[in-house]
Amino acid sequence: MEKSRSGRLGYPVVPMSQGPTVYLETFGCQMNELDSELVRGQLRSLGYRFVADPARADVVLYNTCSVREQAENKAYSRLGLIGMRKKAGEHVILGVLGCMAERDGADMLRRFPQVDLLCGPGELDRLPALLDNVRRTEGASREERIALAGNKSRRSATLAAAEDQLELLDLSRAFDPAAPGADHRSAYVRITRGCNKFCTYCVVPNTRGAEVHRPPDSIVDECKRLVDAGVVEITLLGQTVNHYRYTHGKAVGVEGVELPQVGPGLSAFRSPIPAGERVTTFAELLRRIHDEVPALRRLRFVTSYPRDFGDDILDVMAASPRICRYIHAPAQSGSDRILKLMNRGYTRGEYLEFIARVTEKLPDCTIAGDIIVGFPTETEADFEETVSLVRAVPFKNNFIFKYSPRPGTTAITRFEDDVPTDVKKLRNNILLDVQSEVSARVHASWVGKTVEVLVESSEDDSEAADADTQTSESKTDASLGAGEHGATRATIALPQFGAQNQPRRSTASGVASGRAPHARCVGRTQGDLIVAIDVTGTPDWAMTLKPGSLISVEIRGSAPLLLRGRPVKTAAAAF
Ligand code: 5AD
Ligand code: SF4
Repeated sequence: MEKSRSGRLGYPVVPMSQGPTVYLETFGCQMNELDSELVRGQLRSLGYRFVADPARADVVLYNTCSVREQAENKAYSRLGLIGMRKKAGEHVILGVLGCMAERDGADMLRRFPQVDLLCGPGELDRLPALLDNVRRTEGASREERIALAGNKSRRSATLAAAEDQLELLDLSRAFDPAAPGADHRSAYVRITRGCNKFCTYCVVPNTRGAEVHRPPDSIVDECKRLVDAGVVEITLLGQTVNHYRYTHGKAVGVEGVELPQVGPGLSAFRSPIPAGERVTTFAELLRRIHDEVPALRRLRFVTSYPRDFGDDILDVMAASPRICRYIHAPAQSGSDRILKLMNRGYTRGEYLEFIARVTEKLPDCTIAGDIIVGFPTETEADFEETVSLVRAVPFKNNFIFKYSPRPGTTAITRFEDDVPTDVKKLRNNILLDVQSEVSARVHASWVGKTVEVLVESSEDDSEAADADTQTSESKTDASLGAGEHGATRATIALPQFGAQNQPRRSTASGVASGRAPHARCVGRTQGDLIVAIDVTGTPDWAMTLKPGSLISVEIRGSAPLLLRGRPVKTAAAAF
C-alpha cells in the first residue's frame, strides 16, 4: 500500500487509488475560476479524485459568487438538490467555497443544515484541513462538525498577506489541463487579491478583503513556469488590475524573499513615487513579463479601473507587440450624479478623456465594459446620459446588469432600491440594443484587415458559428455578465467544439447556438473579438489547425458580435 506522505501545503496525502471523489462547480468570475483551479491542484496532490458527475462524488463543492442576487440563487438551488440527497440518506460531504461562504455564512447554515463546510476566498489554502476535519468528525454533532462558519476576509486577507499562506497556494500551482481555457493553452495568473475601492453597490471588498499585491518576482516566475508547460496566452487578474503597485523592501520574509503586501490608498496613484522608494508599477510589471518571458505569445489583463490608467501603461502596451490591445474598463454609468453615488471616483468627462488617450495611443485597441442600470434614484435623464456614453465610446461589448441590492454594501443601507423592476428591464433592453449597434460598427471596422487569431476550438465536420444569428443571442450574453470580478472567460461556447458548460467571457456565448456551414475553427483576436474561420477550399495545412495555434486571418465579414475570415499563410503566422 502507498505510504502516507505530506502534500505541498503540509496536509496528509491520501493514496491515489483510494482518495475520495470530488465534484467542484464554479459560479461567477474569472477569480473564482482561478481559485477553483488552485483548489483542484491542491486537492489532487493530496489524492482526491475529481469527477464530472455530482452523483458520483463523495464530496460536492460549490465555489460561489455574491456579486448579484441571481448568482446566489443559482447556488442555493444546487444546495437544495444535494440537501435532498442527504435527507434521503446518501452519504456526501457538502462544502460551500467562495464569496457566499464569506458573506452569508451564518445565514446559510441556518437555511441549509446539510452544509458541512464553509470556506471563504481568503482561506482556500486551509480547505484540505477543513475537509479533513469534516471527514474525521463524521458522526459528531452538527455544531462540532461545521468546519468553519466563514470569516471576515478583510481581516484575514491582511493576515494572509503576512502569513503568506494564500501566496503558497498560487505558488504551488501547476498548469491544469482541466481548467477552462486549457484546451487552447490559455491560463490566468493572479497579480492582486481583493479590492480597496468600495464602490457602493459592490460586495467584493467585503468578501475578498483588502487589496493585496503579489511580489513581481513570483508573478514573473509563475508566467515562466506556465509557458514552459505549453501556455500560449496568460491573462493577469486583479479586481482593479492597473492599480497593481509593489513597494520593494517593505514586506520581506526569510532569506530576503519578498512577500505579498497590502495595496496603497488611492492617493498613491495621484502623487509621484516618494524619493528612495523602489516600486514596481503595473506598467513595469507588464514590461517585465513581456521582456522576461519572450516565449509567451499573448499577455492580457482584466479588469481595469478607469481612474488612474496612466499613459505609462499605454506606452508599454504600444511598445510591446505581445501585450494584447484590449482593455476592459467598466464605466458603470454615464451620469456624473450616479457615478458619485456609486463612489466610482471619476466623472463621465474623465472616463471619456481616458478613452480618448487609449484610442490616440493604441488605435487598434478594443474596449469593453460593464454598465449597471437602475441604480437607486436613476432618472430617465441619468439613463440617457448612459445611453449617450455607450454611443460615444467604441465599446466592442458591454456587460449590462440590472442593479441588485447586496447585503453588506453601502448602497443597500444608504439608498432605497427605488427603480421599479420593469423600468430596470426596459433600460436593460434599450441599452442592449444600443450596444448591439455600437458592437456592429466596431466589428465592421475590422473587415478587410488581416489579424492574428488564437484558435480556441476547431472541428472536423463543417458545423460552426453563424455570424448572422447574433443579434438576439447577444442579449442573453450581455446579461450573463462579467467584469471587475468578471463573470467568465476562456473557451468559446460552441458546445460541439467541446466547450465548458459555463457562460464564457465577454461575447462568446452569443455564438453558442449558431451554425455556419463553412467555418471549422473559432478563435479570438488580440482585441478579444471572436472570429469564425472558414477553411473551406484552403490548402491542407489549414485543416491541421489545433486549439492553441496562432494564425493570420483575413477578415471578410462581420456581425455585431463576430468576425468571419479566411486563413492566410504569411510569414507571421505560427502553426
Ligand atoms: N448589482 C448589479 N451589478 C453589479 N455589479 C457589481 N455589483 C453589482 C450589483 N450590486 C456588476 C458591475 C461589475 C460587474 C462585475 O458586476 O458592473 O463591474
Ligand atoms: Fe472593487 Fe470593482 Fe467592486 Fe468597485 S466594482 S468595489 S472596483 S471590485
